[in-house]
Amino acid sequence: MKHIRTQVGIIGAGPAGLMLAHWLKQHGIESVIIEHRSRAYVEARVRAGLLEQNTVDILKGLGLAGRLEREGHLHHGVYLSFDSERVRVPFGKLTNGRNITIYGQQEVVKDLTDAWLAGGGQLLFEAPALQIEGFDSPAPKIHFEQQGEKGVIDCDFVAACDGFHGIGRKTLPKQLYTEYSITYPFSWLGILANVAPSTDELIYTYHQRGFALHSLRSSTVSRLYIQVDNNDHIDNWSDDQIWDELSVRLGTPGWSLQTGPIFEKSITPMRSYLIDTMQAGRLFLAGDAAHIVPPTGGKGLNLAAADVKHLVDGLVDYYKNGSMRSLDRYTETALKRIWRAQDFSNFMTTLFHKQDEHGSFQYQLQRAKFRYISQSEAYATTIAENYVGLPFEAFT
Ligand code: FAD
Ligand code: PHB
Repeated sequence: MKHIRTQVGIIGAGPAGLMLAHWLKQHGIESVIIEHRSRAYVEARVRAGLLEQNTVDILKGLGLAGRLEREGHLHHGVYLSFDSERVRVPFGKLTNGRNITIYGQQEVVKDLTDAWLAGGGQLLFEAPALQIEGFDSPAPKIHFEQQGEKGVIDCDFVAACDGFHGIGRKTLPKQLYTEYSITYPFSWLGILANVAPSTDELIYTYHQRGFALHSLRSSTVSRLYIQVDNNDHIDNWSDDQIWDELSVRLGTPGWSLQTGPIFEKSITPMRSYLIDTMQAGRLFLAGDAAHIVPPTGGKGLNLAAADVKHLVDGLVDYYKNGSMRSLDRYTETALKRIWRAQDFSNFMTTLFHKQDEHGSFQYQLQRAKFRYISQSEAYATTIAENYVGLPFEAFT
């Protein structure tokens, strides 16, 4: 039986768990991370790519943004398109110089994992947490196993950064929270392809055949998505069909999409989900463990980073001043941004996805909203400031 003692036991080595561990270390607070999957699996998992200004600032503050600053792509605007008409929303002027960086989530995870292990940090891979015991006592325990051997982490606090399917949320007593959720009637088929991006900035588009998004990972790798039905299957799509569909949906006069070999493709369902209590006793949930947003606003990873900030503030207050005051308010503080991001992600999703027949009332509302972006700087500003992410001071 493996026995580990630490101050904060962290479940999950995704962006939330890794950022939390580094940030606590910066404040002299000890933690140990256990991760269900193998290192190779976690580092290869293709997910987000859009980092808000806040998230980049956090990584810089932790001294972990070296490669991100070299290889990430700083974007000062975004293209929004509807029925082949395209507008650009510039960030600089509308958000006081804030912007976004495109850098793959798995690159963030690699950078944070490398730095954590290089600094002598403990991170156990292929070590699923099985049970969280005594979260309502001053001495909680995380039971786990690794290669058939049972283990236990004795800690002061448990941080469940274990994603949507983890055990953190399942451990929270059900009577403590209300659950809110929307399941959308469509999914995203996403690809990674070895081809230079056909755009300098992201393009989100409504087309009568459905939503499409052109994103990127580097000057030689493009990331693109199309809306598909929930019951669709990846085997229904040949590479040629995917490129044809993308070309039609993203098409606009005077612009064409470059195609190339696809090396990753998958279908992801779309969901809005949250619980309105993210803590119980000494158990705290952060990131996807507590909430999911549809990816249209690019908010998931960034919300995870924001939760971590609030959790670190609370833990530092506890260890430096012996006060539970900030920790007691963790949920309340985090939820302000979470609800804002839920609204924005839902707004972007409903604006750009095909939900009803082309020409229907719903479609006309979507088109009216799109037209308003070019008519009103106030409306464009609302989109820009939510997209780049509101500063932390906005939610105090
Ligand atoms: P996760 O990354 O899910 O990490 C949780 C970790 O916990 C995992 O490694 C898991 O293996 C581990 N775990 C689970 N259970 C246990 C257990 N019992 N014991 C030990 N470990 C456990 N977000 C953005 O901000 N911008 C985007 O552009 C964006 N695009 C996206 C595109 C797609 C297609 C998808 C699917 C998501 C996208 N997201 C985006 C969302 C983003 O990827 C997530 O919000 C982010 O991964 C949340 O990080 P996390 O650390 O909370 O959870
Ligand atoms: C991505 O690059 O994967 C990405 C970018 C923006 C989104 C979603 C995903 O809104």
